[in-house]
Amino acid sequence: IRRVRTHHLQQWKEQGHKWVMLTTYDQYTAATFDEAGVPVLFIGDSAANNVFGYASSLPVTVDELLPLVKAVTRTARRALVVADLPFGSYQRSPEQAYDTAVRFMKEGEAHVVKLEGGAEMAPQIELLTKGAVPVMAHIGFTPQSEHALGGYRVQGRGDAASRLMEDALAVQEAGASSVVMEMVPAPIAAEITERLHIPTIGIGAGPSCDAQVLVWQDMLGLRTGKAPRFVKRYADLHGIILGAAQEFAADVASGTFPAPEHSFDA
Ligand code: KIV
Ligand code: NA
Repeated sequence: IRRVRTHHLQQWKEQGHKWVMLTTYDQYTAATFDEAGVPVLFIGDSAANNVFGYASSLPVTVDELLPLVKAVTRTARRALVVADLPFGSYQRSPEQAYDTAVRFMKEGEAHVVKLEGGAEMAPQIELLTKGAVPVMAHIGFTPQSEHALGGYRVQGRGDAASRLMEDALAVQEAGASSVVMEMVPAPIAAEITERLHIPTIGIGAGPSCDAQVLVWQDMLGLRTGKAPRFVKRYADLHGIILGAAQEFAADVASGTFPAPEHSFDA
C-alpha cells in the first residue's frame, strides 16, 4: 500500500486484520509513526491538553489545530491523516460542519475529518459525506460533551446499551466510514463491532474493536501522573527526557560539555 485509504480500513475489517491509530501533532512523531507502519495518524482535539496545555479539549480552536494538521500531512507519506473538528465548529448545523471540514481539507490537507456524536450528528455526517468529506464518527464517551454528560464516565452500561447501538447504526447509515468508541463496556463494543459493517476504533472499549487508538503522550509515557484505565504505557519518555536534561545541565556545570569535538578551531 502506497497510501492508506478508507477502503483499506474496510478491507482489514473484512479480513479480521486489527490495526492502530495514534494521535500526532507534529513532524517528528508523524514521521516516526509513519515509519513504524501506523496506518492512521490522527490530529485529535486532545492537542488542547497535550500541546497547548488547556485543562480540557473545549477551548482549542480551528485556527490552533490547523497548523498541527498541516505539519502532519506535510510529513506522512503512507498514513491516512484524520483531523478532529473541535468543540463549537460543527454542532450548530450541517453547513457549519461542512465549512469547518473544508478548512481542514483545503488548508490542512487532511484526508478524513472526525466529529463527536451519534444519531444527533447524522445530518452533519450526511452533508459531509455527500460533499466528498470522509467522516470518522465518535460515540460513547465524547469529551467535548464532558459537561453535558456529567464528567468522564463509561457510556452504554445497562439500559444505555441499546441507545449506543442506535447511535452506532445511525452514524453508519449517515455515511461515516469508521467510528471511534470511547469508554464503552467491552461486551457492548463487541456487539456493535459485530453488527456494523464499518470499522470500529476503540479507546477503553475492550479488545473486540477492529482497531485501537491511544494518545501518543500517554502511550509513550511523556504524560505523568495517574493515567486512565485504558492507557498502556509502552515507554517512559518523561524519564528519558528528564534524565537527559539533567545530564546536559550537569555536564555544562562540570565543564565536560562542550568537549573539543563539539568546538571549532581558530
Ligand atoms: O482527541 C483525541 O485524542 C481523540 C481520541 C482519543 C480518539 O478523540
Ligand atoms: Na478528540
